[in-house]
This record gives sequence, C-alpha cells and structure tokens, in this order.
Amino acid sequence: MIQGKKFEKARKTAKEWLAKMTLTEKIGQLSQFGTSIYSDDENTYSDHFAEGKVGSYLTIKGAEKTNQVQKELLSKTRLPIPAVFADDVIHGYRTTMPTPLAQSCTWDPAIVEDCGSVQAKEAYRDGIRWTFTPMIDIARDPRWGRIMEGFGEDPFLCSRLTEAAVSGIQGKEIGEKDKLLSCLKHFVAYGACIGGRDYNSVDICEQTLRDVYLPSFKAGVDAGAATIMSAFNDINGVPATANRHTLHDILRKEWGFNGFVVSDAGAINELLNHGFASDPKHAAELAFTAGVDMNMAGDLYNDVLPVLLEEGKVTMEQIDDAVVRILTLKIMLGLMDEPYTEEEDNSRECYFSPEHRAVSREAGKHAIVLLENDGVLPLKKNQKIALVGPLMDNKEHVLGGWACLDDPSKTVSILEGMTEAFGEEQIIAAKGCDIEGDNREGFAEAVAAAEKADVIVAVMGEHRSMSGEAMNRSDIRLPGIQEEFIHTLAQTGKPIVLLASSGRPLVLTNVREKANAMLMMWQLGTETGHAVADVLTGAHNPSGHLTATMPWSVGQIPINYSHFNTGRPALNVCWFESKYMDAPIDPLYPFGYGKSYTEFAYSNAKLDKESISMNETLTVTVDVTNTGDVAGYDVVQLYVRDMVGSRVRPIRELKGFEKVWLEAKETKTLTFTISPADLAFTNNAMQTVTEPGDFQIFVAHHALDSDICLPFCITC
Ligand code: BGC
Repeated sequence: MIQGKKFEKARKTAKEWLAKMTLTEKIGQLSQFGTSIYSDDENTYSDHFAEGKVGSYLTIKGAEKTNQVQKELLSKTRLPIPAVFADDVIHGYRTTMPTPLAQSCTWDPAIVEDCGSVQAKEAYRDGIRWTFTPMIDIARDPRWGRIMEGFGEDPFLCSRLTEAAVSGIQGKEIGEKDKLLSCLKHFVAYGACIGGRDYNSVDICEQTLRDVYLPSFKAGVDAGAATIMSAFNDINGVPATANRHTLHDILRKEWGFNGFVVSDAGAINELLNHGFASDPKHAAELAFTAGVDMNMAGDLYNDVLPVLLEEGKVTMEQIDDAVVRILTLKIMLGLMDEPYTEEEDNSRECYFSPEHRAVSREAGKHAIVLLENDGVLPLKKNQKIALVGPLMDNKEHVLGGWACLDDPSKTVSILEGMTEAFGEEQIIAAKGCDIEGDNREGFAEAVAAAEKADVIVAVMGEHRSMSGEAMNRSDIRLPGIQEEFIHTLAQTGKPIVLLASSGRPLVLTNVREKANAMLMMWQLGTETGHAVADVLTGAHNPSGHLTATMPWSVGQIPINYSHFNTGRPALNVCWFESKYMDAPIDPLYPFGYGKSYTEFAYSNAKLDKESISMNETLTVTVDVTNTGDVAGYDVVQLYVRDMVGSRVRPIRELKGFEKVWLEAKETKTLTFTISPADLAFTNNAMQTVTEPGDFQIFVAHHALDSDICLPFCITC
C-alpha cells in the first residue's frame, strides 16, 4: 500500500489544488492521450491545453519531446499542473532485458528487481515517469501471445516476483530519481482468455479468480504499486473495465488500494463491442462508477463526464476522489516542482552502458533452462561447432516483443557471443532455413557445416512478433520447416544442441529425440550472445527452471501443474480414467523443471512437528547436496497438498522456494516456514479459510517430483 508521511502530505496538497480547479480541469486530469490503435499519430492535443483537458500521455517519449510538450502545456494552462508521461517499459527501455517470462525462469527476485531498476532508470532519463509494468497476469495457456510478458502460471511465484518488480521500478518511496510509478496489469484474469485468444472472454468461478488470478495483484498492492490497469476481457460476462465487483468491492474496499486505476487503451469504448454499454456515454458511466479513474487514449471522459454529472449518474465526490488520487501521485513524483527532464547527453550515457548490459547478461544466463543433456554440454573449447538455425546470428527477434526503444544493432548475437568465447576458427556458421516458410535451399550448406564439425548448435524458434499482444498461435511447435531441418541435421550423426528461442513455451515433442541437449533460451535481450555462450561453455552452470508448463501437445492445453485430482485421475489402472487416448496426461516438461551440469540430492527432510494448531507455524528442514563435480545453483521447491477440503483442493500448490548456490559436494541445510494462513483458500461462502485436516508437503526438484513427501495435520 502507498503510505507514509509523504503520501499524507501529498494528499493534503492535492486537495488544495482540487479546491482551485474547474470541473473541466478536474476531468482533464482523468484523461490520457497518445498513440494507441485508435490514434497512431503523436497528436499532443495542444488545443486542449488552455482548458486543462490533458492529464497524461502514453508513448510520447524522449526528454526533448516530453519537455517541449510539457512546456507548451504549462504555458497555456490556467493551473500549472504538469502531465505525467507514461510508456510500456516492459523488459527494457533501450538496453533490453530478457522478457518477463524469461526473467521469471531465474526464480530470482533480486534479478527481477535489478532488471526493473535498469528499465526505470533508462526511461526516467527520457522523460517517462510512469510505466505500464509489471504485467502480472497468470498465464496457463501458451497459445496466448502475452504469456511472454508475465511471470508464468503460478500465483505464489508470480506474487514474489511482482513484489521485486514493483520495488525495482518504483523504489522505496514514490518520487525517487530514476524510478517510475509502476502499474499492475491487467486487472484481472486477462490470462484466462478462452482458447488462448487475446481479449477473449474469461469464464472462471469466483474461487479461481481469488485463489489464482488475484494474489499477484494483492501482493503488488501491498508492495506499494501506485497504479493498476483494468483489463480488456470480460469476467463471467462482466467486462473487467466496468467490473464494480473487482475494481471497487475487491480492490478498493477489501484491499484498500489507494493509487489510481487507468483503463487499457480504448477499453471503455470497447464496452460497446462487448454488448455491455449502449453508447459511449453509457460506457463511461459504467467504467467510471466501477472504479476506472483515468481513460487511456482519448476524450471520452472529457466529453461525457460533465453530462453524466449533470444527469446525476456520477457524483462530484466520485470525480473529486479520482482527481485527488491522480494529483497525489503527481505531487509525490515531484512533478509540480520539477516537471522537466534533464537533457544533457551524459544523463543518457547509461543506455547500453557496461553496467546495464551486465544486468541483462546476468538475467539472461540465469533465465536459460536446460531441458536435456546427455553429456554433450558444456562444450569443450577445442570443439568445432556448426552454428546453424534461423536465429543463430539474429539481433532482433532475440530481443523479444515489448522491447520499447531497443536497438538491434547493439545486440550481441549468438554468433558473436560464441565467436568471442570459442574463437573464429572454431565456428562454422550456416543458417539452414528461415523462421517461417519452406525454403530448403540452405539445408545443404548447414549439413556440410555439420559434417565438418564435432557438434551442431542449432538456434531455432520464433519471430519476435509471434508473441506479445494479439500474437496468439494455435500451433506452438517450431514454425516453418524447422522440425524437418533438425531431422535433416540429425542424419549427419553429429550431436545436436538445440537452443529454442521464443516468447512462450513451445511444443518440442517432435524434436526432443533428435537433440543431445535442449535448452529453452526464450528471448534474452541485448546480451543474448554472451548469456548463451556463458551457459554453453559452462562459465555459468545452467540454473533456470520453467515457470510455465511445456505441453506434450497443443491438445493438452490448457495445462498446469496445480489442477484438481478429479474422481478418476489418470493412474493407468483402468480404462475409464481422465486421460487422452492419443497423448500422455503429463506434459513434456513440468512447471519447476530445469537441469544443471551437476546433480542435486535432497535428504534428511523433516518437519519440526507432525501437527500444528491454527496459530502455530511449521518448520521444514532439508539438506541439499551438490553431488557432482561442478558448483551451481539449485532451485529447491516446496509444494503442499491439502488432502480434503470443503471444496476440492489442487493436487499441489507451490508455497516456498529457495535458490541456493552449492560448491561441488557441498551440503547446505535449508529451512522453510509454513503457517496456516499460507494454506488458505476461498470456500463456498467466499471466505478465505484454512481448514483443519491432513496435508502433505513435497520438497521437490519440480512440480511432478514426489520423492519427498511429508504428511502433517492442522488441528482446530
Ligand atoms: C495493452 C497494454 C498497454 C497499452 C498501452 C494496450 O493495448 O493491452 O498492456 O499498456 O496498450 O500501450
């Protein structure tokens, strides 16, 4: 929650400003302008300045540009209230970090926080003071293109990473130099779109909403996130942008959120398309009274809120409250005193600086997930490497889909990174095929390169615009003829290291057998080539773990680890089970999965008690040993199963994790603490309860690992 003396003081000052404002000026603060699908010009709406009808801009960036617009605005408005400039700094402003999905695979809040800090600093230096980040939608359908923007499928992990992202972007207190207002989006359940089709309807019960989709938002609000964006989708028939239940009853009343809510771009007008509002005025009434304080992209509020006030459909108090919320944050940002941004060149020297590149490289090497390795990795320095595949020298697609003002010419390609690490004479490069299409002309050259080499490194995957907003795919295998290309390479008999670059988990079932090693490298940003080389050489022992299930086939989707057991679970004991006839029930790789160049073993797992009461805590201890010969990080995961509930409970839920560094042969004892409150869920009366009864704890390498199972119970 935003709190403290600075907040209280800013609220008081905001009310003083309010007392001086006309109705038009007040509503102007609730209006944001800028580029969206509804207006692709960079119209600054300077004809609105004199009346004070502009509160904020999106996507207008650059210190010179924002200063110039701000100056004109302040020279024309009656009251000198500056605009706040906002932008989508999702995984980088200039220096590009790995995508948020890739960042989440680090299981490392400190890395996510560092990435957020770099993003904020670079954007701040260019006039931005507010970013529409982090996107914290739980995503359980990899067909959905926006899975790349979030932290994966699990509410517990997503909540911890949300806290880290808010801290990195926003800092300790709103208004610090080089920090921005953060925006939790998209409120809420946007990732549950049916069929993985962006913007599509969401049909989930209230309990799923509360137990799966809301926790990351609650964590973000508690961490002090300043703003929230309402989502495009409808939830059980009520669009999120006019959903008083989620925006008012839950967000404001239950959680006490005291920042402001912005709509998604044009989402209020889209209430007409939903068939929820009869005309734009009706749409504005529904959204505003539900709790959307600011309209993104357009004049709708400016045009109709005065009429709605006159008709008694909105109240002056509602308008005043929204204005105070927005002004409070502008004051906290320090905009009233310093509305401009330094323009000196050296303030932007941090773009692509060694420090910022180092953060991107660190995040990148920790994000790569090793899926398979028969011993071919790490590569040896004297090996000849055939570097093939459509992404092996690419500098653009590996940046990912929401890279803001990126600069592909600054990207370290995999070819460059590998050449630097192994030497030019060791690398024979040949692309072989394109990402899409069926041109096989390059196959022969790639095969010839493979024949001269000791090992093939094949960099395959997606175009950057195959994921992100509206970029959904119904077939999430490697696109084009890439599968065929791998099969062709396999005929050479040379070992294959397959690096898959994409914004989503892919279905790699058809190529797994052909690869001696396989890695999900996601889209790693500016330092891609260095991060990849760090892992392939063994300079960094791979430590990434999946945060979204990798399905065996598209037909299994939606698939996630934390499902209910059903009355007929697929145990392979009889025919009439919840199974597929033509596919396994398990995914290709589960949530939490990730290999290393060493092995980790768990032993002496113990609980301090067999039973706890509602006001006690349980301590779990476990020894983690690096049984191999190289040092590395392990991600130890703690799952819980509630055996019997008044509503059925998931077969597993993540309740703890720790990333731990272990030298070769080293053992460390880890301790996790669980309290009854951690095991709460939403019951049929919509209460958050922990029910007494039997539970199981799993200390596990991934979500399907059942080797260590410790029973305990909670008494009344
Ligand atoms: C997206 C948001 C984004 C906004 C502004 C919308 O289309 O859904 O995530 O912040 O545009 O660019």
